[in-house]
Amino acid sequence: MFLVVEKTAALSLSVKLFILSAEPPLSIDFMHQNKRRYTGVLVRGLFEVLLDHPEGLPIKAALQRCLRQVSNSDSTRVGEQLLRGCVAPIKAGWLLTDGNGFSISQEGKLAYQRYSDPDDFLLRAGKHSLRGWISIHFPEPYFFLGKLRDQFASEYRVAKRIGIKNLLEKAIGTPDSWQEVLPIQAARRISIPGLELASLDSFLADLKQSNLAYGAGGHAVYLPPETIQKTAFRELSKYYPCNAGLKIVRHQGGISDSVYVYKGEGESRLHLKLIHNLRHLTLVANLLYVNGVGPRLHDLVELQCNNHLWTAFMVEHVEKPVTSMDVCQNGINSIRELEQRNLVKIILPYGYEDGEFQCPDCSGNAFMTADGEFRYIDFQNFALTGYGEFLKSVALEAAEASHFGDKSILRGGRYLYQSVPGVPLPGKRNPETRMQILGELMKNAGVSVENRLVLDIGCNVGMMMAQYLKLGALWCHGWDQETVVPHTEKLLYALGCTRFSTTGGVITQSIDLKSELASHLKPHLNGCVVSYLAVRGHINWLDALKEIPWAFMIYEGHEGETAEQSLHYLEEFNKTVPFRIAAQGEYADGDSEPRTVAILIKD
Ligand SMILES: C[S@@+](CC[C@H](N)C(=O)[O-])C[C@H]1O[C@@H](n2cnc3c(N)ncnc32)[C@H](O)[C@@H]1O
Repeated sequence: MFLVVEKTAALSLSVKLFILSAEPPLSIDFMHQNKRRYTGVLVRGLFEVLLDHPEGLPIKAALQRCLRQVSNSDSTRVGEQLLRGCVAPIKAGWLLTDGNGFSISQEGKLAYQRYSDPDDFLLRAGKHSLRGWISIHFPEPYFFLGKLRDQFASEYRVAKRIGIKNLLEKAIGTPDSWQEVLPIQAARRISIPGLELASLDSFLADLKQSNLAYGAGGHAVYLPPETIQKTAFRELSKYYPCNAGLKIVRHQGGISDSVYVYKGEGESRLHLKLIHNLRHLTLVANLLYVNGVGPRLHDLVELQCNNHLWTAFMVEHVEKPVTSMDVCQNGINSIRELEQRNLVKIILPYGYEDGEFQCPDCSGNAFMTADGEFRYIDFQNFALTGYGEFLKSVALEAAEASHFGDKSILRGGRYLYQSVPGVPLPGKRNPETRMQILGELMKNAGVSVENRLVLDIGCNVGMMMAQYLKLGALWCHGWDQETVVPHTEKLLYALGCTRFSTTGGVITQSIDLKSELASHLKPHLNGCVVSYLAVRGHINWLDALKEIPWAFMIYEGHEGETAEQSLHYLEEFNKTVPFRIAAQGEYADGDSEPRTVAILIKD
């Protein structure tokens, strides 16, 4: 395992010998400017020397030529830096060594020509092996100081667990498109009245004194629902189900400043680097939840506690620690299946051998629902792998069930009615394009979905709900056919949405919309938004629209309907519900013909 480390350590001796005779100084400032780039310059210098000697050179002679211009005082460090930089090209098979001499392979020659930027040259070399990758990304003294070997071994174990392909995707440079656009839902910031939360520790001390339950972990503190009710955090029960618990991230700050694991004493640096940021952790939480091994995540939220900002997860409260070996082992097996399907990887260096995965309690991470179902509560132990493919498969499954309208032969049969962000599949409608126009209309009308409940009637696979959540909607509830909404849910979870719910079934004229809403949503009906997009022709104007105290409606007509016809339908509606048309326009998106759109404000 440490063959290369030992070999390079031995090589450093020859560098030291040589260094005594090294010559004129090179600017130290330059060396500090960009260490990796400079290492790349050194290694490419070695390649240059060796390309003039296709038969190869003894190591000492090759190094001597490279380091000719380095001063005595810098030469030890520079020589070590050069040798460290050789690990990745050696593992890539570009630089050949038999322990005594160096030569360049044909691939090495091509790589030298192709990757002329020194930094790029090293990064490309690092893509060929785990050891090479580590030597590039953790170039500090692992390879030379025996006392840090344990650290190296720890990094190596993490890298091996994750696999080179996933490392390349996750940790260096080339993010998949989903990483840029997900989660699509915007985080809300909620003010907690009358609480100056300057320090979590003193807050916990107060809870202790008042005999209120809490959990204190290394990275987060947890308040169960009964503690939420008895503190200023009861404000949150206006927005989330009453069985929700609050997990406050220990490191103070908003979502972008805050990290789940702040300082991991003795932990692998690669492991820390692989922990998803808080926003991407919502995707992990959703994935565990939909696969029955995690609690439901209700939201990732910023809590404004007077002058202090904190980040927290609102999660379904799961009460009982797991005590049954069977329940735990079944749960862990389900997690193993997710790994086998290449959806997640455990990123702890010892993987399943780590105490956090030892049954029955997994070091306090394994809990049971009232029905005895396993829930693993700490989602930072997982990295998403193959997420782009997963997203595409969820969208493909949805296409067959949810398409509304004709098949397209050109599009390959059934295809999505609404396209999915971050997924390169066609859709008849493009929610992002639609939202740009609708957003402008709302602005002109002086209204916004932010902090409002949105009722999406005929929601299809929920991609307009995703857009409303992106604009900061308080919650979205969607109605569609029974065969469609399971896909709506799967897709919304996969996109990192949490503040939503759905009802499946036939939408009839007399449907009772209110009764389908969870109790924490009912108070928000007052001032809610109704999304009535391309559905009037299918379900007419629902009776419930007369009673619900909506503030405004986002309306879209149908293909082939003229603006006059659309206005005529709105006039009909206006006879039973008083509203004014605050903004009106037309758009054509995706494969759709132009449609009339309007914002109706209730009088
Ligand atoms: C033309 S699509 C519009 C979807 C979405 N509102 C949009 O504009 O992107 C109509 C949607 O309404 C749903 N729908 C139509 N009539 C329905 C009914 N009677 N019951 C349940 N869903 C219905 C369809 O399943 C479909 O998803």
